[in-house]
Amino acid sequence: MSLQQQDFLRDAMRRLGLTRDAFVSRIGVSRRALDTWLLPDESPESRKMPEIVQRFVSEISAQSGSPVNTLPINGVEGNRRGLSDGAAHLLSVDQFSRESVEALLRVADIMQPIAHRQKFTRVLEGAVLANLFFEASTRTRLSFSSAFSRLGGSVCDTTGFTFSSMAKGESIRDTSRVISGYADAIVVRHPEQGSVAEFAQAAVVPVINGGDGVGEHPSQALLDLYTIQREFARLNKTVDGAHIAFVGDLKYGRTVHSLGKLLGLYKHLKFTFVSPPSLEMPGHIVEALAMGGHDVEQTHDLKSGVKGADVIYATRIQKERFNVEETLEGYSADFQINQALVNAQCAADTLIMHPLPRDSRSGANDLSTDLDQDPRLAIFRQTDNGIPVRMAIFATLLGVENQIEQSMRDVAWGLRTAG
Ligand code: NCD
Repeated sequence: MSLQQQDFLRDAMRRLGLTRDAFVSRIGVSRRALDTWLLPDESPESRKMPEIVQRFVSEISAQSGSPVNTLPINGVEGNRRGLSDGAAHLLSVDQFSRESVEALLRVADIMQPIAHRQKFTRVLEGAVLANLFFEASTRTRLSFSSAFSRLGGSVCDTTGFTFSSMAKGESIRDTSRVISGYADAIVVRHPEQGSVAEFAQAAVVPVINGGDGVGEHPSQALLDLYTIQREFARLNKTVDGAHIAFVGDLKYGRTVHSLGKLLGLYKHLKFTFVSPPSLEMPGHIVEALAMGGHDVEQTHDLKSGVKGADVIYATRIQKERFNVEETLEGYSADFQINQALVNAQCAADTLIMHPLPRDSRSGANDLSTDLDQDPRLAIFRQTDNGIPVRMAIFATLLGVENQIEQSMRDVAWGLRTAG
């Protein structure tokens, strides 16, 4: 039985893409208990897992769909890489435990001198990234590209369906297998939820989800969390116990889906979800956060919703994801985050974030440009943080995260200033 039990648990962790630490926190048991269930049966410490745990694990791993080798990045199991062993992927923030996310963000810290153009490294020399974007993108595509290049690798890419063989009816699986022969890592953005996981199933190199429809945007959530951590360190605040107000299109905004879940790894947060009635946060995310011991409120009133928040995370209306009956053109004026609202409702140390792009067309009432000189607006510090975080993701997936520090050298060039 023990052998079956070990196989059963290992398979569940693999299907869920969780490290042992993340797995124990997901199923609510101690790490020690799991370790004893995983021991060979001849060991005196070996124990049989309770039936109720077995049932729960069966349930959650069945819900995770077909097995994808979604290995945790920077997890305690290490990264299996290479063509024979299967590849590590970054598909969802569900892969992370608090420990593994913080370890990854420490790698991002190491990347700062490179991101600030003081140092350079060639640790990924010879490696090729394929950037496949089947949906509009500026930041994500270019920052993944820049991050890979700054590690010494090179990048090839394709954008849109029109100029790819998908326009000739090629399947995701065929495309994935083909690109795996050309590149050592692949970033995919695709309009359908779950499509990047499907892509990963056929890939033999690491696949990173650059946004799958209304599903997830894990690298954005990682850079958002990194931004919150860094800004909070400056403001003497902690993520544990913070009040985060998510504002806007919480139904279709994949960045808030990923960031909400990622922040859920911390303790006792207050989440206020402020949206128009038709664009509320999906119930399963609200419930999971409430079950995780967080204080969760949902409201349609912007003024009361943002009051006292440590972070306001605003989002654009994802009009392109609306179905035919949905009509909202933009936010109404009383939904706009602007200087007057922030001055009236927020403290001097409130952070204002947005994944961008913000819709600056008149009538859209997205995050106002009248806040651009306000130091509380963190949106461009947020985009800057995309580089070290995406470098950390690549370095970890390709197994060079421990070589960065020794490999760094001073850059020979500098940005000229006028005058
Ligand atoms: C977001 C996206 O594509 O999900 N943008 C981004 O990657 N920073 C948000 C959006 O498009 O509104």
